[in-house]
Amino acid sequence: MSAFIRPDLQAFAAYSAHAMAETAVAPTVIDHLDTNESSYDLPTPLKEKLAWEYQHTVQTNRYPDGGHADLRAAIADYANHSVALSGLTATADHITVGNGSDELIRSLLIATCVGRSGAVLVAEPTFSMYKILATTLGVEVVAIGRDEATFEVDIVAAQNAISHSSTPVRMVFMVSPNSPTGNSLTRSELEWLRSLPTDVLVVVDEAYFEFNQESTLFDALTRPNWLITRTFSKAFRLATHRIGYAIAQPELITILEKVRLPYNLPSFSQAAALTALRYAPDILVTVIEIQAERQRLSQAFKKLPNFQAWPTTANFIYGRPTVHSVETIFQKLYQQGTQIRQTGGGLRLTIGTPEENNRTLTHLNQALTT
Ligand SMILES: Cc1ncc(COP(=O)(O)O)c(C=O)c1O
Repeated sequence: MSAFIRPDLQAFAAYSAHAMAETAVAPTVIDHLDTNESSYDLPTPLKEKLAWEYQHTVQTNRYPDGGHADLRAAIADYANHSVALSGLTATADHITVGNGSDELIRSLLIATCVGRSGAVLVAEPTFSMYKILATTLGVEVVAIGRDEATFEVDIVAAQNAISHSSTPVRMVFMVSPNSPTGNSLTRSELEWLRSLPTDVLVVVDEAYFEFNQESTLFDALTRPNWLITRTFSKAFRLATHRIGYAIAQPELITILEKVRLPYNLPSFSQAAALTALRYAPDILVTVIEIQAERQRLSQAFKKLPNFQAWPTTANFIYGRPTVHSVETIFQKLYQQGTQIRQTGGGLRLTIGTPEENNRTLTHLNQALTT
């Protein structure tokens, strides 16, 4: 590789959303249950409204609105449901939007660590992009573990890491519910996060918020060192449009606005997010169906032989085979068209439509018993 490339990037593996495997016979039906998107496309009437927006409001020759004013205000209105009884309100000044919440993670790393000594703390297994983005930016990652039975963060290890890391920990990434393990932050985890000094930024990634309705928005509005990220890629069924947002106190948002690219969100994506918020009840109706399917699948997984599944508050379930290897089960499911994610020493299965879930159950049962 050319000398102008950073040596550490040469050995680095790029993020791959869909792991591939060899299939002897191509499956006739393929279920994409590996990236936790919604399995439900937007309903046709809403797509028609979006097509209308594209025709009548989007000017393709012009750069998008780089300030996202309308969208930030609409997101604030939507987010305020999470603090309805508190007397607090988020405004457009509390919001920044990104090209997916992935972009916001990168902006946060730039704003806190890049160009000076600084590390970020993650509790593994967790969302892999924190480590990937940090590594590409040359930011050190301090990884601590979780309880093997509950996947709660090892708070003693986390506290030790923050107190003794030779590189100062500037930011802690937490996901609630955590991916891939599906558990929400517990009271003691939250207490610990709230006890951190204000020179450490706490980021709570609420990508799956709509599936459990638990939010730390109150903390984001009242603490200078707390920020939440969310996305339109999951419950809002807009993964193709790449829209994420962060909520924090305006001082912090102003900094994130400085580090993002000027036109980071295409006009059509902004129109899609605005339309989605206007018709939120019509779009989020599938959350209820997914929650019902979550319950049904969780019960059914308990009865599967040779498999341990964990409780979940998200739109996916995490499990580990107890006899076969994770790789064997992954391969067997893949051969049958059920594409899931192999991660953190286990398997993460997105909850899909009832038909997809029926196939998941059949294929998993077969894989575990043959
Ligand atoms: C925990 C978590 N955060 C963030 C993201 C990325 O979301 P986005 O599509 O908004 O970049 C994902 C996607 O799978 C995720 O699981």
